[in-house]
Amino acid sequence: MKDSQTIDPQNIESVHYDVLVIGCGAAGLTLAIKLAAHTKVAVLSKGNFQEGSTWYAQGGIAAVLDDKDSVESHVADTIAAGGGLCHKDTVKFIVEQSKAAIDWLVDIGVPFTKAQNSNDFHLTREGGHSHRRIIHSADSTGKAVHSTLLDTAQSTPGLTLFKHHIAVDLIKQSDTGESKVRCTGAYVYSREEDRVKVFSARTVVLATGGASKAYLYSSNPDSASGDGIAMAWRAGCRVTNMEFNQFHPTCLYHPEAKSFLITEALRGEGAKLRLPNGEAFMHKFHELAELAPRDIVARAIDYEMKRVGSDFVHLDISHKSAEFITKHFPTVSKQCAKYGIDITKDPIPVVPAAHYTCGGIAVNQKGQTDLKNLYAIGETSFTGLHGANRMASNSLLECLVYARSAANAIRETLPNIPPPKQAPEWDESRVTDSDEDVVIAHNWDELRRFMWDYVGIVRTQKRLERASNRIALLQKEIHEYYSNYKISNDLIELRNLAKVAELIIHSAKARKESRGLHYSLDYPEMSETAVDTVLVPINHAAQACVIISE
Ligand code: FAD
Ligand code: SIN
Repeated sequence: MKDSQTIDPQNIESVHYDVLVIGCGAAGLTLAIKLAAHTKVAVLSKGNFQEGSTWYAQGGIAAVLDDKDSVESHVADTIAAGGGLCHKDTVKFIVEQSKAAIDWLVDIGVPFTKAQNSNDFHLTREGGHSHRRIIHSADSTGKAVHSTLLDTAQSTPGLTLFKHHIAVDLIKQSDTGESKVRCTGAYVYSREEDRVKVFSARTVVLATGGASKAYLYSSNPDSASGDGIAMAWRAGCRVTNMEFNQFHPTCLYHPEAKSFLITEALRGEGAKLRLPNGEAFMHKFHELAELAPRDIVARAIDYEMKRVGSDFVHLDISHKSAEFITKHFPTVSKQCAKYGIDITKDPIPVVPAAHYTCGGIAVNQKGQTDLKNLYAIGETSFTGLHGANRMASNSLLECLVYARSAANAIRETLPNIPPPKQAPEWDESRVTDSDEDVVIAHNWDELRRFMWDYVGIVRTQKRLERASNRIALLQKEIHEYYSNYKISNDLIELRNLAKVAELIIHSAKARKESRGLHYSLDYPEMSETAVDTVLVPINHAAQACVIISE
């Protein structure tokens, strides 16, 4: 509800499901497919079905698939990359299930790349991994995985997919005799119908992806506005480690190229990072050079760009044969060719960009949040896997493993959850059409720019303080705007981005050390003790969700 509630049973736009899955990427679709045989499931996507990060994933999925590799080695690499903050039980839990997760994808038909003259899958390498363990579909793994999941979902009975449906806020209900409030659905804005509907469900799953669009330069699609994190926070859930936003070291630098990633697998196959004068530099920063964990590579590039006054550095794979390059990296080759770069001969101009949200909604190993019957899976969640820095290609794996584990928990609990009561309809009686949409566009740009400048790869307390002051002003303005005008997609996303930016700034200010992706010039040392930054919402009952009492 926006501000007040009026119930007119004649006029309620309500849809009832057993399970409402908000998000249609690898996490949401996997969970929905695993559940749908037993239940009535709705899956929402706020844009077209392909507009999540999953579709754009390039490198692949990390898993223990080679006889010479081991669970222990994958676990050790993940923990080493994570700067002392990974939850070991979670890492083990996920890595142990990596083979089963891949076997399932192979069973449903994902066309992974095979090794030359062999029936085995080709495994590539990326930063932080001590073995070749990344299974992939050339350099467009996300497209191969997502289209197979989508085809499977579309032919699964019991599962209904809704595109252009954006969840605005969660609905909660308190039952007599029950001490815990439960989640019973969401208010959902249908872009095509331009109205808000009630989606009621006995269980709700947030699978809304990350929040890297809080930054001016990002590898992510526009959908990555942290909606799930903001909704869960407003509903009273804890949010953890938001200061660890990962910057991918190599996005294409070209005035016309928006958000195009140059996969780390290029470095896995020997590509070198060089200054514009051709000099290699990564060996000065880490013994693994180009294959050091991402936080180190991104920071080294940032440092060298500032030192030599360049807007980019180069990534060079031209030492490999043209045949190898076009076979393994067809997407990168074609995309670069569009901008006149022949990667078989030319170095690629690259810059770091915001890429992945390591923090998120706190969940247990079943994906359960602090709010009863609300789950969170995939990039929106915080499981403890990534610690202070995610190792490459571990995120799709996390999506798959937690989707399965949450599906199992939901299947067990669903029979005992009574259907929800009718929630009040969305009240727009006191809002008008906006006559100043420029406010949204302006605030959106301002937010992403100061997050980039003040809460980026290298931080100081002073910069964080500046960001803090600005976010407070923006929050006030956005709240006012939200209370007075009809909602739209852009307004919903801006409101969420502002909330997530506030959580990132707050967490970054609280961390008085440098660890993994959080690097502060004021606190350059790493503390001896590793502690998560856990934010707890206060007074959450008074916030935007509706509480229905008997
Ligand atoms: P997403 O795939 O982002 O899906 C989110 C879904 O939620 C979308 O359907 C969106 O429409 C929907 N949504 C969001 N908000 C709302 C709302 N309010 N209402 C309704 N729906 C909503 N990871 C790897 O492991 N390997 C890789 O090789 C790799 N490469 C990457 C390359 C790129 C360019 C990017 C951007 C990321 C890459 N990652 C990779 C990270 C990985 O792709 C993501 O972490 C993962 O796909 C997230 O999946 P998800 O299901 O959690 O969310
Ligand atoms: C990449 O292909 O470089 C992205 C891999 C990831 O983000 O895990």
